[in-house]
This record gives sequence, C-alpha cells and structure tokens, in this order.
Amino acid sequence: MSQIIGYRPEDAGQPPSLSPGYVSTVPRSPRLPLVKIPQGLTETTGPANAWSRLMGPSMADLTTQHAAMPQGQRIIVAGRVLDEQGRPVPNTVMEIWQANAAGRYIHKKDQWDAPLDPNFTGAGRVITDADGRYQFVTIRPGAYPWGNHHNAWRPAHIHLSLLGPAFATRLVTQMYFPDDPLIEIDPIANAVPPPYRQRLVSRFDIETTRPNWALGYLFDVVLRGPDATPPDTEHGEDDDHD
Ligand SMILES: [Fe+2]
Repeated sequence: MSQIIGYRPEDAGQPPSLSPGYVSTVPRSPRLPLVKIPQGLTETTGPANAWSRLMGPSMADLTTQHAAMPQGQRIIVAGRVLDEQGRPVPNTVMEIWQANAAGRYIHKKDQWDAPLDPNFTGAGRVITDADGRYQFVTIRPGAYPWGNHHNAWRPAHIHLSLLGPAFATRLVTQMYFPDDPLIEIDPIANAVPPPYRQRLVSRFDIETTRPNWALGYLFDVVLRGPDATPPDTEHGEDDDHD
C-alpha cells in the first residue's frame, strides 16, 4: 500500500513498525535507529521439551470450557508449524485468543454493544506434536469495530502466539478467514504488503471438516525465512484489543 513508508523488499513479509493507516503504530513505532542486541544463551534457547510441564494441560477445545456450547459456528483450525527449511517445529507452545461469535472479547476494556457469551472465554493453548502439527476446536469469531478511523471494522481473526524453539523466536500474528471482504480495507492486515498478506489467510479444507460437526480451516505457520508468516505490528493487544 502507498501508506507503507521505507519498506524494503528484503523485509519480506515483515510489516513496517510504522504504518500510518494503522493509527496506533504512529506513537508506538521507534523514532530512533534500532539498537542491535547480540543474541546470547537467553535469546537462543528455551525450555525445549519442558513446555508441556510448564504450560499445564492443553486447551485445544475452546467450545468445552464452560457448562454449554458457545454461540456461533463451530470450526476446526489446524495446521503445522515449520521453520525456514520447511522442517516441523515440534513441542512448541501455540496460544490463541479471539473474540466470540458476536465479535466481543471477554475483557473489561471491550465494551462495545455486542453480547458476551457466558460459555466462551476465547483462549486456547496447545503444544505442537512431533510433526509440528496443532489443532484447535473453536467458534468462528465475529468482526468488531475498533475506532481506528470512521466505520473501522476488524475482519474476523484469531490471534496467535508461537514461542518457537527459543525465547527470541516468538511470533505474534493474526489469522484471517478466506473471502472476508473486510481484509482488504483493514489497516492491520494491510500493514503486510502483498503477496505476503495472503499468508495470514487460512484456507477452507474439506478434509479437515468433520461431517455433521464442524468446518475445517488450515493455517500453517512458518517461523522464519523467505516463507515466514508475517508478524503482527501490534504487540499492545492487552491495551487496545485491535
Ligand atoms: Fe483482535
């Protein structure tokens, strides 16, 4: 997009930290040259195979965390986590958070006029298996207004955090749904230039779909390299719930 300033081809799918159409990036982005921090043991290592012990039981099904099913369309979101050479990343923590079917988060700062769902918290966490695979069962989130500009609505999305093999490899991003007309007018999605933006869009998959039960969407995540899944420019999710 023309609003992307100083974007270099070598940045691949990385959104620039300043993307003025996404208003929060204006105060949030750095004004001084970045300081390169050498990577030591702290950045290049993690708890390796201890995640399952540290993270507690998996939360792979967001529709069974309360007394009854949440409102909305039940879906399966599945895929693989891969490194820059297409190798699976096993035993890594993948967390998701999302709005309910009406587009509302269970958070005190989200006060727009949509109902909360007593049967939906919107948080999940799994650890990838030996093939780097993951799977969540959830409901399709709704779009919601976010005040970035006049009549601004976020496309339906699921937030993801992947820790990767080391602390410095954490990726925070968002997954969208195919054929959502809001994607092309969303400043957050559009902070990632094409063709990389398409990597943030899941695809409907009839094989993942379960008969008489749930639609299936596939979303592979690549942590690094030329095929990397673009990160999210917003790391202030707790503050403004974009
Ligand atoms: Fe969001």
